[in-house]
Amino acid sequence: MKTTLWGACLAMAIVLVTATDEISPRPSLSFSPKAPYHAVVQPEQRRCKTCFIDSHGDGVTDDSPSILNAFKECNDGGRVVFRKNYTYVIGTAMDWTFLNHIDIDIQGEILFTNDTTYWQANSFKFGFQNVTSFFKLGGNDVWIYGGGTVDGNGQIWYDTHAKDIYTLRPVLFGIDGLHDSVISDLALRYSPQYYHFVANSTNVVFNNIDIAGRSTSKHEAKNTDGWDTYRSDGVTIQNSVINNGDAQLNQHPGPEPLLQRLTRHQRRLAGPVRRHLRHRRRRVVGNVSLHNASDGARIKVWPNTPSALSGDLQGGGGDGRVRNITYSGMVIDNVDYTIEIDQCYGQKNLTLCLEYPSPLTISDIVFERFRGRTSKKYQPLIGALACSSDKACSNIRAEDIDVMSPNGTRDVYCLNMDRTSLDLTCTDKYKGFN
Ligand SMILES: *[C@@H]1O[C@H](CO)[C@@H](O)[C@H](O)[C@H]1NC(C)=O
Ligand SMILES: *[C@@H]1O[C@H](CO)[C@@H](O)[C@H](O)[C@H]1NC(C)=O
Ligand SMILES: *[C@@H]1O[C@H](CO)[C@@H](O)[C@H](O)[C@H]1NC(C)=O
Ligand SMILES: *[C@@H]1O[C@H](CO)[C@@H](O)[C@H](O)[C@H]1NC(C)=O
Ligand SMILES: *[C@@H]1O[C@H](CO)[C@@H](O)[C@H](O)[C@H]1NC(C)=O
Ligand SMILES: *[C@@H]1O[C@H](CO)[C@@H](O)[C@H](O)[C@H]1NC(C)=O
Ligand SMILES: *[C@@H]1O[C@H](CO)[C@@H](O)[C@H](O)[C@H]1NC(C)=O
Ligand SMILES: *[C@@H]1O[C@H](CO)[C@@H](O)[C@H](O)[C@H]1NC(C)=O
Ligand SMILES: *[C@@H]1O[C@H](CO)[C@@H](O)[C@H](O)[C@H]1NC(C)=O
Repeated sequence: MKTTLWGACLAMAIVLVTATDEISPRPSLSFSPKAPYHAVVQPEQRRCKTCFIDSHGDGVTDDSPSILNAFKECNDGGRVVFRKNYTYVIGTAMDWTFLNHIDIDIQGEILFTNDTTYWQANSFKFGFQNVTSFFKLGGNDVWIYGGGTVDGNGQIWYDTHAKDIYTLRPVLFGIDGLHDSVISDLALRYSPQYYHFVANSTNVVFNNIDIAGRSTSKHEAKNTDGWDTYRSDGVTIQNSVINNGDAQLNQHPGPEPLLQRLTRHQRRLAGPVRRHLRHRRRRVVGNVSLHNASDGARIKVWPNTPSALSGDLQGGGGDGRVRNITYSGMVIDNVDYTIEIDQCYGQKNLTLCLEYPSPLTISDIVFERFRGRTSKKYQPLIGALACSSDKACSNIRAEDIDVMSPNGTRDVYCLNMDRTSLDLTCTDKYKGFN
C-alpha cells in the first residue's frame, strides 16, 4: 500500500503518485425523471489521503491484510484505490462496518477465494434466512465506484449447493448499517447467492450496476437475486442491468413491523450525513433491465401457516407491513413474471394459504412503465398479484405495463385485488409461483 498526501491537506504537498496510478472521478449521478425524496448532496472531494492498494498478483495469495490496512489508513476523509489491471484475492472475512467519509475506487478486480469450508465457517451471519456474506459493509458517507469488477467465484458454490442444499452460500455484498452512501459503476459477477443484502441501512443509492453470472455446469446458479433489502429505508436502485439471475429485487418483511417504505428514487448526488430514519418514502426502480431471470418486481410474503419452500427455506407467520413502494421503469426480457405479489410464498396449497391469511399488509404499491417480454413459463400469464385475503392488500396500482408473453398474451393472475386500480387484463386462472 502506498499512501499519498495531496496538496489540499498540507501546505507543502507531498505527491507520490506514479504515472500509472490513476484516480477515477466520482460518478456523476443523474436522477430523471423522478426527483429524490431527499436530495443527495455530493460530499467534498477527499483529497487528504489516498491509499493505493498493492496485490500479490498471483491470483492465489490473500490480499486481505493490505485491503484492511488501506481502509483503516484512509478512512475518515480519504480514499482507497484498487488499481486498474490488478487482481485482488480475498480469502479472509472482513468487517468493514467502520467506514466513514471514504471513497473506495475499485478499478481492478476483486476475486473471492473458492474455499467453501473457510467461508462457511467464517462468513458473517445476518440472522435472517441463513444469509451470510464474504464481508460486511457499513458506515456513513461511503462512495464506492471505479468501473472495476467484484467476482464471487460462484461456480464452486453452485456445484456444492447442488450436492448439499444446506451449504451456506455467501452473498456478494453484505451490507449492514450503511447510511448516506453511493455504490456505482461496478460489474458484479458470479455471486454464490444474492448479489446484495442490504440490512439496517438508510439512503443508499445503487447506480449503474452490471450484474451477470451464469453457471457453466449443469447446476443452476440459484437464488442469485439482485438486491434483497431488510429493515432499510431510502434504498435507490437505478440504471442497472441483471443478466441471468434469479429474482431482481426482493423485499423481506421479516418477523416484526419493519420495512418502512424504501426509497428507491433516482436522486441527486449523495449527501450530507443524514442519519434519521425517514418514514415516508417510496421506492422507485429507475431504468433497470433484466434478462433471463425468474422475477421482475416482486413482493413475497410467507402466509400465516408454517410453510416450506425447501428444507433450507422455511417460514410462515409473522406480521408487519409493506407500504409505499413504486417500481417504475423496468425493461424485461425472458423473465417468468414481470410483476408479482405473492402472499402465499412457500405454500403450494392455495386453499391452505387462504385459510390462514397473512397479517402482513401490503399497501400503496405502484407498478408503472414496464416494457418487454416474459418467458414461456407461465404463459399466457405475464404476472401474478395474489393476496391471501382482501384485507391484506390495498391501493395496489398498475399502469402502463406494456409487457407480453411470447405468444402475445398479457394476462395477470389476480386474487383478492381491487381490479379497478389495475390497468391489466386480470384473470382467475392460476399457474403458480416461482
Ligand atoms: C491496463 O491494461 C490495458 C490492456 O492491457 C492497457 O492498455 C492499460 O495501459 C493498462 N492500464 C494500466 C493503468 O496499467
Ligand atoms: C480453487 O482455486 C485455486 C486457486 O485459483 C485453484 O488452484 C483450485 O483448483 C480451485 N479449486 C477448485 C475446487 O476449483
Ligand atoms: C440490525 O440492527 C439490529 C438492531 O441493532 C441488530 O440486532 C441486527 O443484528 C442488525 N443486523 C441485521 C442483519 O438485522
Ligand atoms: C439506463 O441504464 C443504462 C445502463 O446503465 C444506461 O446505459 C442508460 O443510459 C440508462 N438510460 C437512461 C435513460 O438513464
Ligand atoms: C409515500 O412516499 C412519499 C414520498 O415519495 C411521501 O410523500 C408519502 O407521504 C408517503 N406515504 C406514506 C403513506 O407513507
Ligand atoms: C438470455 O439467454 C439466451 C438463451 O440462453 C441467450 O441467447 C441470450 O443472449 C441471453 N440474454 C442476454 C442479454 O445475455
Ligand atoms: C437455515 O434455516 C432453516 C430454517 O428456515 C433451518 O432449519 C436450517 O437449519 C438453516 N440452515 C443452516 C445451514 O443454517
Ligand atoms: C390443501 O389444504 C386443504 C385445507 O387444509 C386440504 O383440505 C387439502 O387436502 C390440501 N390439498 C392438498 C393437495 O394437499
Ligand atoms: C399462449 O400459450 C398458452 C400456453 O403456453 C396457451 O394456453 C394459450 O392459449 C396461448 N395463447 C395464444 C393467444 O396463443
